[in-house]
Amino acid sequence: MLKNINLTILVAFSMVVTVFSARLSAEGKHEHSHAKANQQEQVEAHWTSPKEAAERTNPIKSDEDSIARGAKSYTTLCVSCHGEKALGDGVAGASLDPKPTNLKAMSGGHKDGDFAWKIANGRGAMAAWKTTLSENDIWDLVNFIQDLKNEGKSFQSEHNHNTHKH
Ligand code: HEC
Repeated sequence: MLKNINLTILVAFSMVVTVFSARLSAEGKHEHSHAKANQQEQVEAHWTSPKEAAERTNPIKSDEDSIARGAKSYTTLCVSCHGEKALGDGVAGASLDPKPTNLKAMSGGHKDGDFAWKIANGRGAMAAWKTTLSENDIWDLVNFIQDLKNEGKSFQSEHNHNTHKH
């Protein structure tokens, strides 16, 4: 008889433990999904590339030739959305949400590897250019974008050079 009571208590106790631990793990999961949602919100707030991608070093020296090659690709492929002066105001981008990024404002704000990864992989309306462009083409574009912060030097045409007075 005493043995039976003990058994009943034991069974009841283990049920309590089971229910309690199930609740704990449910709470754990709940918190976990919250953390994930926050992470996603952050990514949505500003697009970030994987850390390893951002850490990659740019193998192409940022010289006039590279920037000029980047500017050429930009004028052909990117200007429609990102705009004439890379302010994110191209005609094809007007109805997009999110809008094409103001690349001039972004210039110098991210690592070369970060820009390169974004150009290669795309997101939403922004195409993944790795199917169209070679890695070096992309690094030239990165050099062009990183140079935009220098007061649009990248956009200076020969015309400007000619009118420059000493
Ligand atoms: C069809 C319109 C369109 C074209 C063409 C386009 N982009 Fe974009 N681009 C976007 C949009 C939209 C975003 C914002 C995407 C987002 O945040 O989800 C973007 C984002 C970017 C970013 C990310 C900036 C940052 O740090 O957040 C870079 C870099 C970029 N574009 C470069 C380029 C380059 C270089 C080209 C040409 C090879 C190009 N884009 C062509 C629409 C376009």
